[in-house]
Amino acid sequence: MPSQDLNVGLMGLGVVGGGVAAVLQEQGDAISRKIGRRIQLKKVLVRDPRRPRSAQVPEGMITTNPEEILADPEIQAVVEVMGGTNPAARYLRAALAAGKHVVTANKEVMAKEGPELLALAQRHNVHLLFEASVGGGIPIIGCLTNQLLANEVRSVRGIINGTTNYILTRMAYQHASFPQALKEAQDRGYAEADPTNDVEGIDAAYKLSVLAYLAFQQRVPPENIYREGISRLEVQDFRYAQELGYAIKSLAIANAADGAVQARVYPALVPVDHMLAKVDGVYNAVEVEGSLCGRVLFHGMGAGREPTTSAVVGDLVEIARRMNGSGPPPLVAPREQAWAVKPIDDLYSRYYLRLNVSDQPGVLAQIAHILGDRQISIAAVVQKDTNPAEQTAELVITTHTAREASVQQAMKQVSDLGVVRQVSNLLRIEE
Ligand code: NAP
Ligand code: HSE
Repeated sequence: MPSQDLNVGLMGLGVVGGGVAAVLQEQGDAISRKIGRRIQLKKVLVRDPRRPRSAQVPEGMITTNPEEILADPEIQAVVEVMGGTNPAARYLRAALAAGKHVVTANKEVMAKEGPELLALAQRHNVHLLFEASVGGGIPIIGCLTNQLLANEVRSVRGIINGTTNYILTRMAYQHASFPQALKEAQDRGYAEADPTNDVEGIDAAYKLSVLAYLAFQQRVPPENIYREGISRLEVQDFRYAQELGYAIKSLAIANAADGAVQARVYPALVPVDHMLAKVDGVYNAVEVEGSLCGRVLFHGMGAGREPTTSAVVGDLVEIARRMNGSGPPPLVAPREQAWAVKPIDDLYSRYYLRLNVSDQPGVLAQIAHILGDRQISIAAVVQKDTNPAEQTAELVITTHTAREASVQQAMKQVSDLGVVRQVSNLLRIEE
């Protein structure tokens, strides 16, 4: 006979797991007073039991054997905060198949296997909740799954990686170097085990895939999401963007129209008076545009121990409240007719182009000619940072709306001009 407590097996005792263990142990009475049921930590799975940890967990609770959680009939809920796909996905499947509720912060697993795992949870009449997988402490998953369900969602766009937003903010305002800012983000517990996932937009693509599934009931696999990281940005880009009235933010955008979805992650110029331009540091923001609610903006800390713990424990509270049969778990069923996923070539956007050119007459005319031939209309041109010794200058061009494929082809042709040393950067401008 299961107890009235919700007994929890925790898989992972790192940044997030440590926070969850601490809250369940230190705030157990307060939570139980609020919901009328105790959420009891029973077992904790780690890789290396000798590793020193900030979270105090009784020694007898620690195990390196996943079966001590998966095969324990008294454990009704598993919290997976290990990260990576394997063995995490295997443990999640085993927990669901054993009739255990699951809470995970793992965006990679949810992006790659979310629909199958949700269907498995449904079959076993258990909950699979993943609020912490996107946006840290921001309650975006619950809102897309429940409160905004009546909407046809047109777009989801935002800043959904805390590490890159922290790095970009430090580079823009304090002129920190990239490695220095990344090290700080790691020290604060924001970064993934392999920070390449953050810096190259992989983590944001996983999260966008999760959001797109909930928003459009349409699978958008991470490999179909166009992705550019932040490592190509240079200090001049921040300076020129600022002079032109923009901030640079790494955006994740998915929109749906005419039975097709387009999804992408890249650093973009955002007007300084736009709300997304003001989202700094580890903060994330997600803007959802729905047919009924219009534009709604969710804002909050997107990474770190405390905000993520808040989301994980929130999911456990939901499970504890729904224990003992308050209806089947919610199913996010995919559309019967799958939508096409549009390639980046079909994107229409404004562009910021930074070119290193010979400082001599006629250069701009040659470039303008190539752009004009491809129907790309120039909005503004500024010549910056002339270098008299090398007789070079930086040319910064902004365009009106143009097709991505045309801009890419034009830049290839421009880079072949003898007077162009290099196309230093190409960024989209989001309005
Ligand atoms: P972390 O600090 O690296 O902790 C991972 C924990 O999992 C460690 O305790 C590790 O054990 C354990 N672990 C890993 N592989 C294992 C295995 N094969 N068997 C047993 N235990 C294993 O990671 P984190 O930052 O807490 O992130 C955990 C998850 O939450 C990831 O999916 C991440 O994307 C997600 N997330 C993180 C944040 C954040 O701000 N950090 C925010 C939202 C979501 P040892 O300690 O013994 O090595
Ligand atoms: N590495 C992730 C980030 C953690 O920086 O946003 C939160 O998902």
